[in-house]
Amino acid sequence: MKKIAIINGPNLDRLGQREPEIYGRATLADLEQALRAEVAGQAVELEFFQSNHEGAIIDRIASLADRKFSGIIINGAALTHTSVALRDALLGAGVPAVEVHISNIYKREEFRQRSLTAPACLAVITGLGLEGYHAALRFLLKR
Ligand code: DQA
Repeated sequence: MKKIAIINGPNLDRLGQREPEIYGRATLADLEQALRAEVAGQAVELEFFQSNHEGAIIDRIASLADRKFSGIIINGAALTHTSVALRDALLGAGVPAVEVHISNIYKREEFRQRSLTAPACLAVITGLGLEGYHAALRFLLKR
C-alpha cells in the first residue's frame, strides 16, 4: 500500500472562488474527487490536508514521516516564497515530495519566481493547472 499526501497551503481552500482567471473554477473538493478517482482500485491511500496556518502544515509533514508515507504532493501556495520552516520540514521528513503550482509562477510577479521549498523537493510542476497534481501523483506512484 502506497500512501501519498496532498498538502495545500494558504488560501487554496478558496479554490474555485479565488481569482478564477488565474486558478480556475474547480474547487479543492473537485480536485480531491478527481485524484481519488484516478487511483480507484489501486493499492494507494491518499490523504488530503489544507491549512492556512504554517505551523499546522509543518506538524502534518512531520507526521507523514512518522506514519511512513511514500510521497508528498505539496502546493505551499504563498509559503513557497517565504517559508524556511516549510523547506526545513520537507527536508527533515525525508519523504519524496513534488511541488505543484496551479499557475506558472515564472510568468508572474518577481516575488513568486523564487521557491524556497523547491530545493527540498524531487521536482516542481508549475502552470499545468490542476493537471499538475495528477502528473505529480503518477510520477510518485511509478517510483
Ligand atoms: C500558487 C502560486 C503562489 O504564488 C500563490 O501564492 C498561491 C498559489 C499556485 O498554485 O499557482 O497561493 O502556489
